[in-house]
Amino acid sequence: MKISVIGCGYLGSVHAASLASVGHDVIGIDVDADKIDALSQGRSPIFEPDLPELLSEGIASGRLRFSTNMADARDAELHFIAVGTPQSAGAGSADLSYVDGAFDDLVPYLTEGDVVVGKSTVPVGTAVTHVADVEARGAHLVWNPEFLREGFAVKDTIRPDRLVYGVAYGDEYSVQKLNEVYATAIESGSPVIVTDFATAELVKVSANAFLATKISFINAMAEIAEVTGADVTKLADAIGHDNRIGRKFLNAGVGFGGGCLPKDIRAFTARAEELGRGESVAFLKEVDAINLRRRERVVELVTEELGGSVFQKKVAVLGLAFKPNSDDVRDSPALDVAVRLNGLGAKVVATDPEAIANSRALHPQLVYGTTDEALAGADAVVVVTEWPEYKQLDPAAVHEVVRTPIVIDARNCLDADAWADAGWEYAGLGRQVKNGRA
Ligand code: UGA
Repeated sequence: MKISVIGCGYLGSVHAASLASVGHDVIGIDVDADKIDALSQGRSPIFEPDLPELLSEGIASGRLRFSTNMADARDAELHFIAVGTPQSAGAGSADLSYVDGAFDDLVPYLTEGDVVVGKSTVPVGTAVTHVADVEARGAHLVWNPEFLREGFAVKDTIRPDRLVYGVAYGDEYSVQKLNEVYATAIESGSPVIVTDFATAELVKVSANAFLATKISFINAMAEIAEVTGADVTKLADAIGHDNRIGRKFLNAGVGFGGGCLPKDIRAFTARAEELGRGESVAFLKEVDAINLRRRERVVELVTEELGGSVFQKKVAVLGLAFKPNSDDVRDSPALDVAVRLNGLGAKVVATDPEAIANSRALHPQLVYGTTDEALAGADAVVVVTEWPEYKQLDPAAVHEVVRTPIVIDARNCLDADAWADAGWEYAGLGRQVKNGRA
């Protein structure tokens, strides 16, 4: 099928390359000329496993092209809207200007029988505001939210764990077109849920709200564990054995960040308030507050471990990305911790396998270096993103290069006993492992 993908960021670039890889003819469109240049040469503008290979294959096959010109969407019969919906400046609500702009630019090129497919995460009630413009061109509108996780984006796009189509009442035509687009995923077992616009929009934000709530729940338990001598990692293992609860997304630590969960729960709260149902999701404010408190707790722990002040102490901050296998530092707890410590006068040297360039663009005041540079002579080591290379560090070898063997495991990802055995003062979040066994 001939497909256009409007917006070539974390979502659109992966979506375009993945659709080309399953045989479609795809044009990716973005207003950012540098991004389009890179993508056209097969260079991925983001760090995402498997994406570079998919881009090169797609371009070589002739099935994947990129452009800054919306008129190039004219030949496509399906148009995916994959632009960002960031948090509005100074408010919790979603900034819909890119979505509105994409519709305004695309609508003049629509022809009879085209299907416009919204993928961007939007507040419930957004699709309905665009349907008249699309239908006036004889085209159809569907809302088809995306559930991909960064770091697994290609896999999640090619074989999603579910497909949700929000369609106008009785629009069988769009359902059939989307089933054709996703034929490979459907054949390999991805279930399809057909519903209305509002439900499709809500499925997306409620899924992210649930995930954020699960993480903040376990982080709230970490706060209780810290004052009672309990161990939150054992607690998570124990409650996670109950299938109704499940162990996934129960990792206590410095909390969630990224371009999705934080801004999505804030936008959901703002939208519910607009709808007069603020109280229904008032708990999401608490979820947000618990999450942000964990960043402060990490700073507190470092301060405590360093005897009450971080001033002039060298702190190695291992990790800047909001999670491993990503270079994304949007609302990253790791970067935030580095900035806070630096602000308190610590001599921070921050490192990350992929996210230094993005961090430097936001916070040029920080000192960045390699892992070795960060660790050399450090008074404390803080692991804030659980990259495999940090989990695999040899505590005995690292002991040789630091000044003081103090490690703060802000992701509870290290082998606490191994570090304690190698002579380290170990502090996790919500765990009693200091200088001893878990
Ligand atoms: C999230 C959702 O998981 C995706 O389903 C959704 O499609 C995406 O947002 C989106 O809306 O586009 P993502 O932002 O890639 O995906 O990251 P997650 O894997 O959900 O992790 C979010 C944050 O939670 C990370 O900072 C991670 O470190 C943290 N986290 C995750 C925890 O602190 N504890 C956990 O147990 C799990």
